[in-house]
Amino acid sequence: METPRPTRSRLEPEPVPRRDVLGLASLWSAATALAISMLGMLRLPRAAVLASPSKKFRVALPETLASGEAFVPPGRSVALFRDAEGVYAVSTICTHLGCVIKPTAEGFECPCHGSRFARDGAVTKGPAPRALNWLKVAANGGNVVVDEGTTVPQGTKVNV
Ligand code: FES
Repeated sequence: METPRPTRSRLEPEPVPRRDVLGLASLWSAATALAISMLGMLRLPRAAVLASPSKKFRVALPETLASGEAFVPPGRSVALFRDAEGVYAVSTICTHLGCVIKPTAEGFECPCHGSRFARDGAVTKGPAPRALNWLKVAANGGNVVVDEGTTVPQGTKVNV
């Protein structure tokens, strides 16, 4: 005759088998590793090139734009300049790894790895391997039409 097992109280729970403890520990480790890797993915740099419906756009230069001062149209990756010889456009996409560069008093600076460029796009500090692209500009009734998809030789300026 078998003796009945004593029922356990809630204060004395049934012991968890070692296999279950190890299984739960490995599951929690995997879940934690996945969560940490997902957090790491959130910290990755965002796409540097701005989405644009069209590579060609028309823009009016501000009347107060001083000679040698950069004008960056909102949402575009282009800096426009006006000087005595005309208007020209320089791409604001870094030639190192494609980050969007920011205009400074001396020219441009890349926030990603610190490259610096003169106003004409020439590299003044690496690691950028080459000068910024100059983009095609055309006059259009007092406005400027910029074609972000077409590069032109450095020094190409248009009278507006
Ligand atoms: S992307 Fe500009 S310096 Fe690296």
